[in-house]
Amino acid sequence: MCGIVGYIGNQKAAPILIDGLSKLEYRGYDSAGVAIYDEGSVKVRKYKGRISILEENLKKETIKGNIGIGHTRWATHGEPSDRNSHPHTNYSGNIALIHNGIIENYMKLKEWLISVKGDHFKSETDSEVIAHLIDYFYEGDLLDAVYKAIEKMEGAYAIGVICKDEPDKIVAVRKDSPLIVGLGENENFIASDIPALLKYTKDIYLIENEEVVLLTKDEVKIFNEFREVVKRDVFKVTWNAEAAEKEGYPHFMMKEINEQPKGVYDTLHRRLDKKDNIVLDGIKITKEDLEQINKVYIVACGTAYHAGLVGKYAIEKFAKIPVEVDVASEFRYRDPFVDENTLFIAVSQSGETLDTLAALREAKRKGARILSIVNVVGSSVARESDDVFYTWAGPEIAVASTKAYTTQLVSMYLIALHMAVTKGSIANDQYKKYIKALKEMPDQIQKIVENEESIQKIADEQFNNENVFYIGRGVDVAVAYEGSLKLKEISYIHSEAIGAGELKHGTIALIEEGRLVVALATQDGLYDKMLSNIQEVRARGAYVIGVAKEENKEIEKVADKVIYIPDTLDEFTPILSVVPLQVLAYYIAVARGCDVDKPKNLAKSVTVE
Ligand code: F6R
Repeated sequence: MCGIVGYIGNQKAAPILIDGLSKLEYRGYDSAGVAIYDEGSVKVRKYKGRISILEENLKKETIKGNIGIGHTRWATHGEPSDRNSHPHTNYSGNIALIHNGIIENYMKLKEWLISVKGDHFKSETDSEVIAHLIDYFYEGDLLDAVYKAIEKMEGAYAIGVICKDEPDKIVAVRKDSPLIVGLGENENFIASDIPALLKYTKDIYLIENEEVVLLTKDEVKIFNEFREVVKRDVFKVTWNAEAAEKEGYPHFMMKEINEQPKGVYDTLHRRLDKKDNIVLDGIKITKEDLEQINKVYIVACGTAYHAGLVGKYAIEKFAKIPVEVDVASEFRYRDPFVDENTLFIAVSQSGETLDTLAALREAKRKGARILSIVNVVGSSVARESDDVFYTWAGPEIAVASTKAYTTQLVSMYLIALHMAVTKGSIANDQYKKYIKALKEMPDQIQKIVENEESIQKIADEQFNNENVFYIGRGVDVAVAYEGSLKLKEISYIHSEAIGAGELKHGTIALIEEGRLVVALATQDGLYDKMLSNIQEVRARGAYVIGVAKEENKEIEKVADKVIYIPDTLDEFTPILSVVPLQVLAYYIAVARGCDVDKPKNLAKSVTVE
């Protein structure tokens, strides 16, 4: 996690760094800091808390320097505090460093540095060690010292370094943590992610793993691990700065909920030709390849994992291939049964989630073919995959994922249908029916979003509940998991999702007077069974909010409140039924006064294990 930025040019660095950091605050917000070369010294200012605190403090003085680095932190080693904030420096304060990632051998390095140099460390962080290490190797050439330091470092890192004695350069390195370079006129930038730079440039170099970058204001040089210069094409960003702004919405999360019709439309229509055939440019799996594949693993974390659960349902149903879904942090350590006949599907909004990336590498090592569903173009997961399916959600800023999830669902359905057509396991009229239903989704989501006021009313009545259960059957269970996660992560209410049929095997013991139960009953074939399960919890005092298709009104007789979704085929209800759950979680969190876009203890991009 953590966000890093750097600027070198003719403008004052401080406001550019603050602006860039504010766009990266979704990556972590425990503390923030900058180091700027100004009037012959490296000035470091860093504070516990949000970027606004750093900004307020910077207003109290004039720092005119036009080269600097900045950092917003999600604490791993050492509590959030001024001392543990970045940038870190060497003992004399000549060298300043920002770091995103974890240095796994930092204890050993620290002990070694203390023994050879008698160094004093000011923080409890792993990152500070890097500044001391660079200092140890520094003999007048920052690039050389950085190269020597990274030889000793184990772990994941994107770093930016400036040095008082070479005030015309920034040196940056990427290893398993994201890093991009922005190209300007007489100015250049580094950052963890594109939104930080959009205001200044749309010309980007995507830095590859183990590359080292030397930036001056007029030039950017990229080197590989052997210190050879490498050429890189400029990546042109196609979206504008507004895409990363709130545009009048109170929170990014609400803006992103409202962007779902567009995200779903774009993700779908960019893959359909005029005759509604699915055309997947980024996926080169042939009929012969598919015939070899006897197993699919879908591996992801959090919300993306929940999209994977729906993916299992879709691939097994349409393409008739067995699918296992696993959370990435478990998959990688359990010696999964993967071979060259396995298709491994990684799902990730950011494309930088370390667990997902590590699981992907493990599957690749064992010979699997790697397909990824990713939102961020050029991200690590995308680059290390054989086939890539990009979701067209646009930048997702709120920590709680919404539009990434619905576009991941559409991607899953398209991949499953594509496989089914390629394999010949689906009849043409059935295919046509499915595509027609998918094409109705953007308008149907719009209809749900327009009904947000009625969901807000329910939220205003129920926001004090401290335990909430989400239940469903069939594919509704996957949506129940996602609804539950949305609620707990932004409102801090304890919540649990469970298959409705499983309730009576233990969990129903927790149902008592006033307990809130959200019951998804969108599956025609399981509708009556869900009504019985709702009655079971009602009989024990639960207050039930039902989610059902408009055509199924029977639920009104057993639930306390009903939220309807437009009628659609059972297979595709997750794309619709998750939307009221997102809106419900949002308004409950707002009613509780929570910081919706930046929930406590969380960060958007999880680049640590
Ligand atoms: C929850 C949420 C997380 C992410 C998870 C994976 O709202 O956003 O659970 O889904 O951290 O992140 P990505 O998709 O970037 O790999």
